[in-house]
Amino acid sequence: MPLRHFLRDDDVTHEEQAEILARAARIKGAPFTDRTLVGPEVVAVLFDKQTLRTQLSFSAAIAHLGGYPMVVDGKLAQVGVRESIADVARVMGRESVAIVWRTYGQDRIEEMARYAQVPVINALTDDFHPCQILADLLTIQEHKGALPGLTLGYCGDGANNMAQSYLLGAALAGMHIRIGTPASHQPKPEILARAEELAAEHGGSVLVTDDPVETVSGADAVATDTWVSMGQEKEKDSRQGAESPFARFQVNAGLMAQADPGAVFLHCLPAYRGFEVTEDVIDGPQSVVWDESENRLHAQKAILAWLVEQHRAGDPT
Ligand code: NVA
Repeated sequence: MPLRHFLRDDDVTHEEQAEILARAARIKGAPFTDRTLVGPEVVAVLFDKQTLRTQLSFSAAIAHLGGYPMVVDGKLAQVGVRESIADVARVMGRESVAIVWRTYGQDRIEEMARYAQVPVINALTDDFHPCQILADLLTIQEHKGALPGLTLGYCGDGANNMAQSYLLGAALAGMHIRIGTPASHQPKPEILARAEELAAEHGGSVLVTDDPVETVSGADAVATDTWVSMGQEKEKDSRQGAESPFARFQVNAGLMAQADPGAVFLHCLPAYRGFEVTEDVIDGPQSVVWDESENRLHAQKAILAWLVEQHRAGDPT
């Protein structure tokens, strides 16, 4: 059985995604019953970019599962600078049952996965944020019921990790995913093509449009994300300034009113009120961002435990 990783949203099948979400919901109801990492087994958690929620939620997830989170500061480890990704992967793979990594290029985490010999989980790269999308899907499921057939409208930077992960993860779930973004910030063509393929397979659809109203019209869930992702700090003025290409895509009360009246509002956080979202929306009655944030914990416990079990089943040594 090949070693499984979670480097992008479509590294699991439709059925596996549903199974992982169901496990997350069960775990949420009985937080200390899943002891997959009892030992404590060690999980290496490495950050090349800033973090708050991800360090908290993975540390708690690993501890709840009976394991030990070995958090590594990427500034000290300097993966790929001080030593090669392959060598780091070989070392960490001998010390841990899984590796969680937040880094820049998707090629970096793919290389880690090639050499680690334990499951590798993407805790955000420039291209994808699949753990966040699991948490978002869990949140939507809790508030709106079964995912297939629901519509999710995302407004903002269509080329960032959240947009690209929504495309894959929501299409895989059989949802209708709409991305509202300017022509200058489109998702990568190969990711869009893959999302269209997944949507066709699972009864959903994909729309990329530069019309924010079309994006959220009648939607069951509306999402946005910062206009300045980690690693883009030098572009802050052009992305957030008066000439921002994203200004039309701000999720405010007027735009939110175009969605279904029962729609929920999602944001992976950190949020910048007055830019991608207004205070009345993120702090208003339709916002489920705190549930979404908590659900990182439950979703990550589920994917981590599932991957470790898959690995043990395939490699019982
Ligand atoms: N697109 C954002 C997500 C933060 C969780 C970033 O990459 O900074």
